[in-house]
Amino acid sequence: MKSKITFLLFVIFIIAIHGQDDEKEWWRTATFYQIYPRSFMDTTGNGIGDLKGMIQRLDHLKDAGFDTFWLSPIFKSPQKDTGYDVSDYYTIEPDYGTMDDFKALIAKAKSLGIRVMLDFIPNHTSDEHEWFIKSCANESEFRDYYVWHDGQPNPEGGRPFLPNNWISVFGGPAWTWVESRQQYYLHQFLPGQPDLNYRSDNVVKAMSDMLIYYIDMGVAGFRLDAINHLFEDALFRNETQWNPEEEIENYDDLNHEHTKDLNETFLFVYSWRKMIDDYIVQKNISSDILVMTEAYASTSDTMRYYHDPTNPNVRGAHMPFNFQLIFNFQANAKSEDIQRGIFEWLNNMPEGETANWVAGSHDHSRVASRIMPEKIHMVNTVVLTLPGSSITYMGEEIGMHDNKDVPNWDNRNKNRTPMQWNGGVGAGFTTRNANETWLPIHPNYLTVNLQAETERPRSTYKYFQSLTALRKTNALRKGDFDFKIINEDVFGYTRNYNKEEGYLILINLSGSSHHLDLKAFDTFGKNKLRVVTAAPNSRFDVGDIVEKEHVTVGLYDAVVFDYVSSASSVVLSIALFFTTIFVYLFN
Ligand code: NOJ
Repeated sequence: MKSKITFLLFVIFIIAIHGQDDEKEWWRTATFYQIYPRSFMDTTGNGIGDLKGMIQRLDHLKDAGFDTFWLSPIFKSPQKDTGYDVSDYYTIEPDYGTMDDFKALIAKAKSLGIRVMLDFIPNHTSDEHEWFIKSCANESEFRDYYVWHDGQPNPEGGRPFLPNNWISVFGGPAWTWVESRQQYYLHQFLPGQPDLNYRSDNVVKAMSDMLIYYIDMGVAGFRLDAINHLFEDALFRNETQWNPEEEIENYDDLNHEHTKDLNETFLFVYSWRKMIDDYIVQKNISSDILVMTEAYASTSDTMRYYHDPTNPNVRGAHMPFNFQLIFNFQANAKSEDIQRGIFEWLNNMPEGETANWVAGSHDHSRVASRIMPEKIHMVNTVVLTLPGSSITYMGEEIGMHDNKDVPNWDNRNKNRTPMQWNGGVGAGFTTRNANETWLPIHPNYLTVNLQAETERPRSTYKYFQSLTALRKTNALRKGDFDFKIINEDVFGYTRNYNKEEGYLILINLSGSSHHLDLKAFDTFGKNKLRVVTAAPNSRFDVGDIVEKEHVTVGLYDAVVFDYVSSASSVVLSIALFFTTIFVYLFN
């Protein structure tokens, strides 16, 4: 008896520990949403989204199946780079509301069981930040807050020449001259985004304090924007050119060995992770505070953000953003391209780490426009069913398109237009007309909108919801992953868990149907496949049962099967037969 009780207690202990792991490491299987604040929901009628609007619409995240969201920047900003130029990290952008609104948003999210993450921009501030203004004025405390350089001597006198050949990501020299200091400052992005100097202890302290401030407020983590630009060569050496024969005109003409992914940057990320991990221990916070790093870098450099390759105990980001699907899931992608994208990450990811899958953001053309409208379902399928966490850019769950009519001051604005909630005035985003918002709403909002898609029996949104529901299963949370190219247009993979629960995901990239034999997949010895969910354009209906060795997949199809044996399929068919008769007789 005693031994049975001990065993029972042991089982309960194991379950409790396991539950704790899930709670602590919640991000390993999380379903993330990215909210672009300016375009989510406007409650003031000025055509610009705001925090009160987010509160009002937060139920949507729950309905869609998201458990965490990260917010593009909400801090005070002159909006030269729509919020990625912060002038005060302790004040909310007045267009969006107040700090109390933000606290109310966190509280509402908490009541729904949703985690809130901030986009944090460590590399640069706005040129209107008081630190920069004081640094330009050479105030002693702020003198070294930014990266300043005298420039190269000009033999003819007058303004010195540029310090070196560094180019800004947005084009043009990465240096701008300031009269008051008679020096150049560095900006790896716009001139309105001066780079902070992380070799200054004051900067490190000021930025670290902010992270702690927002952890105390209840945020679940941070997306660290443009993290790989944090440090630059202390000697300001010229960067080498890809093609030394050509003029340096664009950012991509240079190999960024002195401005990106410097060793110091990795060490810095590790130090921030340690600071955060130590802080949650000190404060008894039971869930990890997430560090997500945004870095467009080589695969090997990207992987270094996870942890120090020479010492896995030196942790970095829980999640370095994985942009592979953005690069590999192109309009004409073949099965091999998708495989390459997926395994570029999985084969290089260090042991013990978790993958994440991203197909869009405010920086990239929307999936329906970048690839093609029919393919939104397959992209959503892949993002939501691969092993690891998923990240969905606002609007992709309803298949929004780029609005080509957006004024072209920033080529990325076409994919930042307001969320299409319904077919009413202002698409339910605002009380204004659809063309009077900060960016014009896409005219297709009359049909592509949340409400219409909720009402249709099959829609992009309904399919999305069915996939996020599946993410709660053990198979999708913890199952293994077996990917197979079936032919150049069709690929599939299984997510099997302990021979208990499994799904086969099948994608047809092409505009023609294919007859397939899927016997190579492990379906626990069961020879029939049953449709669990299928894209709205699929030839399959939920509940359809097909022979594993004779599957006809329709054009641009995306479908998820589970496995049934012949015996259970006979029982199911009989049940279906009697249900149909019953409905017929008693209706
Ligand atoms: C990456 C952000 O996603 C992008 O929108 C921004 O322009 C740059 N970082 C600079 O902050």
